Amino acid sequence: MKKLNIGLFGFGVVGEGIYQVLSEKPQLNAHIKKIVIKHPDKKRNAPSELFSTEANDILNDEEIDVVVELIDDADAAFEIVKTAMNSGKSVVSANKKMIAENHLELIELQREKNVSFLYEAAVCGSVPILRNLEEYYDNDLLNYIQGIVNGSTNYILTKMRSENESYESALKAAQENGFAESDPTLDVEGFDAANKLSIIILHAFGRLVSTEDILTKGITSLKPEDFQYASEKGQIIKLIASCNLDAETQELIPTVIPTFIEKTKTLGLVNNEFNGVLIGSALADEQFLYGKGAGRFPTSSAVLSDISALRYDYKYELRKGVRNGFHGDVPVTRKFY
Ligand code: HSE
Repeated sequence: MKKLNIGLFGFGVVGEGIYQVLSEKPQLNAHIKKIVIKHPDKKRNAPSELFSTEANDILNDEEIDVVVELIDDADAAFEIVKTAMNSGKSVVSANKKMIAENHLELIELQREKNVSFLYEAAVCGSVPILRNLEEYYDNDLLNYIQGIVNGSTNYILTKMRSENESYESALKAAQENGFAESDPTLDVEGFDAANKLSIIILHAFGRLVSTEDILTKGITSLKPEDFQYASEKGQIIKLIASCNLDAETQELIPTVIPTFIEKTKTLGLVNNEFNGVLIGSALADEQFLYGKGAGRFPTSSAVLSDISALRYDYKYELRKGVRNGFHGDVPVTRKFY
């Protein structure tokens, strides 16, 4: 098995997680050669000679064949990812905002440069939703996607409902556990979920729906009396990301909104930082994918899975064609060997 030399951008919750996993598992034959960080003075759990503040220490290093991008600044990440692919390096990223903003361009660039760009960790943490959509649903006709795709808000809503915790203290705990974005507005206003939904939609329906075109409402306006009212009606409130295909018009209807869900229904059972996604389709009827959607090791697991997929040149590409009932001039993502 060829040894992979990795350049890592970012050493936050997930960056440190992936470093730890790869250091403890030499049999994976993937070695982190350099880690680029923003603040050199912070104390970190890795040898100091690994760290640099110079992006070019990774981007200009010809021995590094894979860039793992785990920073939170979407614009800086986009520059890093483009430069890496232009230099012939494959990229694994967890940056949902950056991907949602530049999805087609990134997939196209990897094709031009004959590298791979993979991002399972950007959507639903450990849950292999993109792989599932690409590989299992290649020929089925999708009708809807409905799910909980943000771990922080689900954690906050769970604590507010079942432990009567205040919004502020639940948010603080979500941050302390490493679930929240460094700017938690992205979580609580629903933007993180909308970015993930945009990414999912391309892989589910072969259509680009930008985050701005998704009706998005967060959880910040919810009050204790809303939880009380829901409970009296046998319901719980979840931040639900969904996209329905209108069978007649073939329009997609994407939304991220706090929604009443019956307590005993599948999504009602998804609590804390867990994510769960229902996929509705013509043949399979309904499937449910469930797992931890945030946190150090669950997200590292998805990054690791992408790193392994690079070994067999796994990649998505855009094609014109038929996908889930859409004909003609629509982008289609496919795995490609
Ligand atoms: N802040 C994100 C969440 C992290 O809470 O789901 C995982 O994408």
